Amino acid sequence: MESDSRRSFSKLTVRRVAVLGAGVMGAQIAAHFVNAGIPTVLFDLEAKEGAASALALRAVEQLRKLDPSPLATRRLAAFIEPANYRDDVARLAGCDLVIEAIGERLDWKRELYARIAPHVAPGAVLASNTSGLSLAALSAALPPALRANFCGVHFFNPPRYMHLVELIATDVSDAGMLDALETFLTTALGKGVVRAKDTPNFIANRIGIFSVLTARDPGPRRSYWERAANLSAWYYIRTFSEPDEGDAVLAQNGFPALIGGQDFDDLVDIF
Ligand SMILES: NC(=O)c1ccc[n+]([C@@H]2O[C@H](COP(=O)([O-])OP(=O)(O)OC[C@H]3O[C@@H](n4cnc5c(N)ncnc54)[C@H](O)[C@@H]3O)[C@@H](O)[C@H]2O)c1
Repeated sequence: MESDSRRSFSKLTVRRVAVLGAGVMGAQIAAHFVNAGIPTVLFDLEAKEGAASALALRAVEQLRKLDPSPLATRRLAAFIEPANYRDDVARLAGCDLVIEAIGERLDWKRELYARIAPHVAPGAVLASNTSGLSLAALSAALPPALRANFCGVHFFNPPRYMHLVELIATDVSDAGMLDALETFLTTALGKGVVRAKDTPNFIANRIGIFSVLTARDPGPRRSYWERAANLSAWYYIRTFSEPDEGDAVLAQNGFPALIGGQDFDDLVDIF
């Protein structure tokens, strides 16, 4: 018999969504939900000055200016509700699906999960848009009751236009939840879903590393495979280590220290 905190996942009905993180991905993911007719609460950190939800508010304003437009029509921006974790966390209780899209740091995501977990509705699905962090490590930061309904859902940039979404289960993700979420992503959002294993950077970004390396510097300074192996090793260490421990391992192997927010281009320049 199912416990009270679980729902039957023959179908996932999404009446309201929360997106955590109003950055590049979070704001555009929110836009794609309102394109599909689903009202969305867009959270970000509390602003230091002005309105507490100023970060999310600004992100919504910015959506109206992006080209290509993340919004099917600009007026849809009105269905994205800007929010902040200090004042509005109780609004999570009204959301059937919560997608976390904050900066790519295990410690930030874990801290946020501890903060929001008590407010997630029983039976709601919680998913991370991480590009390659360990879903098992993220899941471990959640109370046990939420872990069955947690997985990775990796949208690509720009999310309105990129067809692919990777769906990543942990060992304890509920199989019915994953099927229902996949059906929702394909039918309501028009996405093409591939199931990826919980390995560093999943499928597409691993292939992407090799493509970027080849395109950027095919020269003989280091062999292609050596550079690719270095980059993969950097990513692996960064993904699965605590920052201090990771720095030590990288230093021992002649790699630069961990630097938050580095993107692919920075990494390719390093290697
Ligand atoms: N940018 C991309 O092309 C892309 C593509 C696919 C997936 N992703 C993934 O999506 C997620 C978000 O990436 P992004 O590019 O939108 O990042 P971003 O830097 O544009 O936005 C990050 C957001 O996280 C918030 N934030 C920062 N620290 C926080 C904290 N400690 N607690 C709560 N919120 C915090 C910031 O205020 C900001 O709104 C990451 O996991 C990233 O790997 C990014």
